[in-house]
Amino acid sequence: MSYDRSVSAEPHDPLPESVWAVQMPALRFGRGAADELDHQFRDMGVEPGADGLLVTDETLVDLGHAARVHETLSEAGFTIDRYTDVEREPSVAAIEDCVSVVRDEQGSDGYDFYVGLGGGSVMDTAKATRAIIANGGGPLDYIAEPTGDGQPLEESGPPLVLLPTTAGTGAEISPLAILSVEEKNIKEGISSDHVRADAAVLDPTLTTTLPADLTAKTAMDALGHAIEGYTTHSYDSLLRPSEAADRPVYGGRTPFTEMFSEKAIRLLSGSVRQAVHNGDDLEARSNMLLGALFGAIAGLTAGANLCHAMAYPVGNRYHTFHGETIAALTPASTIGYNAGSDPDRYERIAELFGIDTTGMQAHEAADALKAEYIQLQQDLNALPSGLHELAGITEDDVRPLAEQTVETQARLLRANPRPVTADDVEDVFRDALHNWEA
Ligand SMILES: [Fe+2]
Repeated sequence: MSYDRSVSAEPHDPLPESVWAVQMPALRFGRGAADELDHQFRDMGVEPGADGLLVTDETLVDLGHAARVHETLSEAGFTIDRYTDVEREPSVAAIEDCVSVVRDEQGSDGYDFYVGLGGGSVMDTAKATRAIIANGGGPLDYIAEPTGDGQPLEESGPPLVLLPTTAGTGAEISPLAILSVEEKNIKEGISSDHVRADAAVLDPTLTTTLPADLTAKTAMDALGHAIEGYTTHSYDSLLRPSEAADRPVYGGRTPFTEMFSEKAIRLLSGSVRQAVHNGDDLEARSNMLLGALFGAIAGLTAGANLCHAMAYPVGNRYHTFHGETIAALTPASTIGYNAGSDPDRYERIAELFGIDTTGMQAHEAADALKAEYIQLQQDLNALPSGLHELAGITEDDVRPLAEQTVETQARLLRANPRPVTADDVEDVFRDALHNWEA
């Protein structure tokens, strides 16, 4: 798989891409959806009496969400074990621990089904564990070279259903499990359609307990997926691969993804203040969960670009939370640097944010969008004013960060709608140090 336009088609057959495809788990959404989890499994051919593993964390046990899911399944006749030792931003060793617990309990074939209840870390742990049990070996066998062996996954394994308790990461639908490789101080993904869950059950009543600061941070990640997916290259700007299997997982925006981006931007920008300041507002929570799902359907199908590319080196070096890194970088990257690639598209985003663009030139609307995005962050009262407040990053750090971005994130940078060099990335990092006066 490659974004490299020069190698994605045979030399004698340089036709533009004309096909797009969407892979998606089954979806069940709404208040009370979690109480239908037994039906979800029956729909997928899992019968009562089957043995399953619930992957979650201690916080969700304390909040009672784990018991709610556990009881729904056990009352329907399923047998459930629990794994609650999930690490935040799980390491390779953390996945190995979950895998060995499964093998100790159930042998090499593992459980009949898996449930992941939690945020991105829990969902990634459940996804990686199921994939490794089904394919054998350990996490490093499937992480891309040179960190791992880069073996392809051949099997998906038994059914996996994910129930997100945050509205942001999109892990419930993505084909990716992100693991931290501690020796190298980097994060790597196991990326494959075999990693993707079979179903996502999204119930806003599982998200009302999320604290205000995490609500704000995960919302900024979701908004980033929606806007980056909306402004990335179009699928037909690539060349058509000679084999359908060589089509990239993140293949550019399509009419399908654009529709979801537009709805996601409107839902997220319109409800995030209420969800952060009044966490019990179920309508706002429902809008956020739906907006995050739509943002993920758009962004994690079309693909992210400059902002996410810059966020990974920051996260690796400074161990910052992904959502607040995206929040700090978005004004300078997605809305700043990239706005020139297609000002009319940014005017449309401004309108989706509720900005009255009457009488504005497109570039003025893009400037108004940037100002509104920064105002939104200030209103949430939980986000850093820029990279400096986020992690103490200064002028001295921007060059090494830019070089690391260019060295390690070529795939995302190639997908950026505007060409980008190391000098450009350095300028964007500098611009992101201070989004407002702290
Ligand atoms: Fe993200």
